[in-house]
Amino acid sequence: MRLLNDGEGDWDGGKFALSKELTLMQAAASLEAGELVIVPTETVYGLAANALNAEAVDSIFLAKERPAIHPLIVHCRDIAQAQTLVMEWSDVAEKLANAFWPGPLSLVLPKSTLVPDIVTGGKDTVAIRLPNHQVFKSLLNLVAFPLAAPSANRFTKLSPTASDHLDPILVSRCAGFLDGGACEIGIESTVVSLVEGRPQLLRPGKVSKEEIETTLGMPVQNVENSLGLAPGQHIAHYRTRNPIILVDKVNAMSCGLTFGTPMSELQIQWSEIPEIAMRTIYDSLFRLDQMNMAQIEVEKPPTTSEWSAIWDRLSRAASFENS
Ligand code: TXA
Ligand code: MG
Repeated sequence: MRLLNDGEGDWDGGKFALSKELTLMQAAASLEAGELVIVPTETVYGLAANALNAEAVDSIFLAKERPAIHPLIVHCRDIAQAQTLVMEWSDVAEKLANAFWPGPLSLVLPKSTLVPDIVTGGKDTVAIRLPNHQVFKSLLNLVAFPLAAPSANRFTKLSPTASDHLDPILVSRCAGFLDGGACEIGIESTVVSLVEGRPQLLRPGKVSKEEIETTLGMPVQNVENSLGLAPGQHIAHYRTRNPIILVDKVNAMSCGLTFGTPMSELQIQWSEIPEIAMRTIYDSLFRLDQMNMAQIEVEKPPTTSEWSAIWDRLSRAASFENS
């Protein structure tokens, strides 16, 4: 397989990045010094900084080349720390936290004055979650502050789910990274806003709308893709270098992701089990992209609700040519 390194600043298979692997103690010291550290989470790798240090958070936006109005998720070590970041901890927040934390669910609540405006892109709400990855949990216990962390990709690119997906340019802008192996969930957290009377789903993820509704005993409003409510839900997200097209069946000669038996080395088999498909989607797209073919065909998954988070990511990834 040919590795890409054409000077455009994209991945080279992670070889360069390996020299910047940190120990937990080094990572904690770097964060205390206001530097950036790439961390593993159960969803995707994150680009972390001290959430209470506005200057450190500013460097996340610079490193990611991300517009300043796109708010960040703040990761906490426990519910008590999360409560310091919000104005009011509601019963609904308590129920969801008890049911899904630590885990892949981010809750949007009115922010406290402790949270610098730069973290929330100037909004008066903040997204918080308790991550469920042993390495990240250990790090959060070593530092005295919560960690703001968007996915560890440059703006509009694929989110990394293993250290060998890391973008060397992004790594070069950080103190280094912690290697926590392959991410167990594989796509970003579900984002739910509790700011309005009724909970609103801003981004679908592993924790489904139905699970949230069952836990709360109330309906959840679907407002995904709403740019106003969740800036950062940009249409041209999750981009590969080579365009993705969605197809009913991958052509025998094409490079692509298929539910069937791969017909050549240019094809990767995808699982029909949504949970496994979720875990492997970014890794498969990363590997197919490295083949550097003119385009990547991806077989459309079923349209049932278990596939909604995958559809959300795929439809953005495939918007390449129209964006
Ligand atoms: O799984 C994840 O959520 C990963 C890991 C690293 O935790 N993080 C992640 O962050 O995906 P990011 O920055 O790539 O996506 C954050 C999403 C965006 O869609 C953003 O609009 C939404 O969360 N968000 C953050 N704060 C918000 C707020 N105050 N109001 C509405 N949406 C918010
Ligand atoms: Mg992201």
